[in-house]
Amino acid sequence: MTNMNILGEKIDLFSAKADVLILSIFGGVAFNVEAAVAGLPELVRKGALRQMKTLDFQAKSNESIVIEFEQGHAHSLVLIGLGDAETATLETAREMIGTAVGIAHRLGAKSIAVELPVPPDGDIADIAEAIVVGAQLADYAFDAYKPKNGAKRLKEMTLCLKNGRDLIRVRKSVEHGNAVATGVNVARDLVNMPAHIMTPTALAETATLIVKEGGKNMTLKVLDREECELLGMGAYLAVAQGSDHPPKFLHLTYTPERATRKRLAVVGKGVTFDSGGLSLKPADSMVTMKCDMAGAAAVLGLFTVIGQLQPRIEIHGIIAAAENMPSGRAIRPGDIVKASNGKTIEILNTDAEGRLTLADALTYAVNLKPTAIVDLATLTGACVVALGEEIAGLMSNDEVLAESVLLAAGDAGEKVWHMPLEKRYASLIESDVADLRNIGTSRYGGTLTAGLFLQEFVENSPWAHLDIAGPAFFEKPGGSYLGKGGTGYGVRTLVELLEKI
Ligand code: BES
Ligand code: ZN
Ligand code: ZN
Repeated sequence: MTNMNILGEKIDLFSAKADVLILSIFGGVAFNVEAAVAGLPELVRKGALRQMKTLDFQAKSNESIVIEFEQGHAHSLVLIGLGDAETATLETAREMIGTAVGIAHRLGAKSIAVELPVPPDGDIADIAEAIVVGAQLADYAFDAYKPKNGAKRLKEMTLCLKNGRDLIRVRKSVEHGNAVATGVNVARDLVNMPAHIMTPTALAETATLIVKEGGKNMTLKVLDREECELLGMGAYLAVAQGSDHPPKFLHLTYTPERATRKRLAVVGKGVTFDSGGLSLKPADSMVTMKCDMAGAAAVLGLFTVIGQLQPRIEIHGIIAAAENMPSGRAIRPGDIVKASNGKTIEILNTDAEGRLTLADALTYAVNLKPTAIVDLATLTGACVVALGEEIAGLMSNDEVLAESVLLAAGDAGEKVWHMPLEKRYASLIESDVADLRNIGTSRYGGTLTAGLFLQEFVENSPWAHLDIAGPAFFEKPGGSYLGKGGTGYGVRTLVELLEKI
């Protein structure tokens, strides 16, 4: 995974050195074809006008036209609609550049140049960052096993600025956006790697590399099975016991240069493959279960970004990595285990394993006395039923933190919906023989009972839980800038959150 090189220049689009030039146009009621082409050079104006008229181009969001011409480097001009300027958001910019990168790939281009679309009340630095992130994500390909997948990737993108005074801010955005996109693409690679490779041990090795890259402010502690036993992590280890791959409990720490009272713990579900265990999944449901460590991937993606941005907040990343397999050593329905906070759990379905691993990971996080805990987990199929493939479920015991997560996700372009931790449903996870059962007694509200289960392990810490079972992995491309497979969901929201709490 290498990123394309991105430049910010004070230059006219048509003077930029690039194979394909991208011009985005606002639509809406004020849209007028003649006005839209008025500023174009003679060379392309007539052709653009003709095609726009023939195709009845309205500059609706993602509507596009390709005009071929010859001038120096450039061989095509791509016009892309942005829809109404009034309703445009940063997501409009990401979508636009995603479409543009897709077209550039199709045209066999190696470089593109784009003029930044700034609506009347928009901030050019924010838009530049959205364009950078959208472009890098759209240009991603998982090519570890098929180099051809990456053959179309772009080498360079030039952001063309009309005004030299914005140059410094835009270049800062390029740097920031590149860091974020790298983190997201690292997470995507980790999710896309098959589960026989991306084992708990491989996750630990990846974390070692990331922490090394992150510099002297980052450390990593890896606890093996015996050390976890000493800490009493009976719930987590129960999940791992059926697999031939040993568990690895990862604790990454980032301490900023300047002292701070803010301490964030980010916990990621790291089930490297979820077969369901003895409560075996049907074949079709198991197909994508290499994605069950997407929460862990988001944590590692975040630490990749942190290493580059060096934010002013202490951050802990916690991953209880394990593989959930059936075997002669596997946990059985009916087994009762004890988590490190002393609570006993009756396991009635070995496929509800994520919450078992998180029980000990959250307890570990609480012991660090953080000012906030955020966990990300591909936790329940019920969440995908409720919210579909693109939206994560948010549950939280703290209104202020929940609001920050919602705002962060909104700015980042990741979709989240707030769901309740309904107290009355807590009775559904009460057990006759233990403190808790790992599945609800009712088949309804599965996302909420999972959230309520996790709440049993966070004590009074402000905590937000993101069920990312839907958006962590796309079985078909989502929008213009995220293709099939791992999406790196959560990394962008977490980075925004660092700035909000
Ligand atoms: N990893 C799955 C949840 C999942 C489903 C993630 C679909 C991504 C896509 C989780 O461990 C699981 O199996 N949950 C069970 C819980 C049930 C047994 C209470 C589920 O959702 O069916
Ligand atoms: Zn499961
Ligand atoms: Zn799972």
